[in-house]
Amino acid sequence: MGFGGNSQQLLSKIATNDKHGENSPYFDGWKAYDRNPFHPKNNPQGVIQMGLAENQLCFDLIEEWIRNNPKASICTPEGVHQFRNIANFQDYHGLQKFRNAMANFMSKVRGGRVRFDPDRILMSGGATGANELIMFCLADPGDAFMIPTPFYPGFVRDLCWRTGVKLIPVHSDSSNNFKITREALEEAYKKAKEDNINVKGLLITNPSNPLGTTLDKDTLKSLVSFINEKNIHLVCDEIYAATVFSSPNYVSVAEVIQEVEHCKRDLIHIIYSLSKDMGFPGFRVGIVYSFNDEVVNCGRKMSSFGLVCSQTQHMLASMLSDENFVTTFIEENSRRLKKRHDKFMKGLEEVNITRFPSNAGLFCWMNLKSLLKEPTFEDELKLWRVIIHEVKLNVSPGSSFNCSEPGWFRVCFANMDDETVDVALNRIRAFVGRETKKPVGIKRWQQNLRLNFSSRIFDETTVIMSPHSPIPTSPLVRAT
Ligand SMILES: Cc1ncc(COP(=O)(O)O)c(C=O)c1O
Repeated sequence: MGFGGNSQQLLSKIATNDKHGENSPYFDGWKAYDRNPFHPKNNPQGVIQMGLAENQLCFDLIEEWIRNNPKASICTPEGVHQFRNIANFQDYHGLQKFRNAMANFMSKVRGGRVRFDPDRILMSGGATGANELIMFCLADPGDAFMIPTPFYPGFVRDLCWRTGVKLIPVHSDSSNNFKITREALEEAYKKAKEDNINVKGLLITNPSNPLGTTLDKDTLKSLVSFINEKNIHLVCDEIYAATVFSSPNYVSVAEVIQEVEHCKRDLIHIIYSLSKDMGFPGFRVGIVYSFNDEVVNCGRKMSSFGLVCSQTQHMLASMLSDENFVTTFIEENSRRLKKRHDKFMKGLEEVNITRFPSNAGLFCWMNLKSLLKEPTFEDELKLWRVIIHEVKLNVSPGSSFNCSEPGWFRVCFANMDDETVDVALNRIRAFVGRETKKPVGIKRWQQNLRLNFSSRIFDETTVIMSPHSPIPTSPLVRAT
């Protein structure tokens, strides 16, 4: 059933604007994968999904814990006696035992060097909901948050779409190792002021998506001083905190503010989630942890719109309170991530592909500048189309992360098994071998552009449903 020709007039401005941010190669790549997903036996020529930052390396540990702890679930004979209590529970403070367990887990992930107060934990639907919730608390429509580039493409949707908040990029590039410098911050802030934009804060992601690097203590201290001086908020998305697999160790902003003199703690807020560190994106466990009492009060009320399901809270309260399990999980997760990272990097090195050195995350930031005819974003997209359509790997181009320098691509490596990594590496090897044999300036993918553009048109007109799609087409709309 549709609304006819003037359907747009019947809907809200938010519903009909295109600020969701889905109109990007980052999401297009997912659709290409959905149309033709790789399967080792059923579809060995399909597209390999390397655009999804999922952590699937430790599912066996979780499954084992679930088998050993049937009481933790209300859906087992051992746990069903709790069913009524849990099914009825709807307090937006969340189960006390869940908040306690989350606070302990967050502390453990940060090396036990900081403690978190369970009463400051607010629930939300994943970090997606948590990021939006904190924006609703801190900014009005038209206000802005500064954000270092390159950044996670979903931020456009999460931070801006429904809140009306604007993002002001703080640019960095490889010439200084993508560092967030004081000069770049001052410049972006000054420009925003000149444009009469009300800057409410700075949002950082530590560890970084897409760089896979952690911020050092000095940088964090300088960011804290900057926001203190300007009297604006600092939101730290720490969703990848437990994905650190090699030195330097992880430093959370919670640790740094203990050491900064006269720090205005009211300005500091942490976003967390179990989507990456535990590999539970489907559970939608998101957290806002604010040091500001008013934000805690207001955010708690707002969290009514995105509570974590009580069944999930109940089970995770048990799982995350199991100290032995948590300790083993954190160590093993980081060990397996390192192993996978090293395997993938070795494969890239063998074909002389460089990447930005990283110590965290579920991805690497691959440098394909040498395969661009011209160092432009146009050529980056052309190359990306070839990688999707010919090499059949869904990687994400740097432009979709607002990177200011063409030629970078994010490649995820923790959402597949070892065999699939080998297939992906073989494809990369074959592609790079083929490209480097061509005389400079006439690479095969450039000869084939016509073909690729036409397949692109097909991409844009085909409607695909994906379990992971950020814009699943509603069944009602599909029926029209
Ligand atoms: C930096 C960052 N923040 C937030 C999210 C959203 O996570 P969630 O699945 O918990 O909503 C992601 C997901 O990729 C992310 O990379």
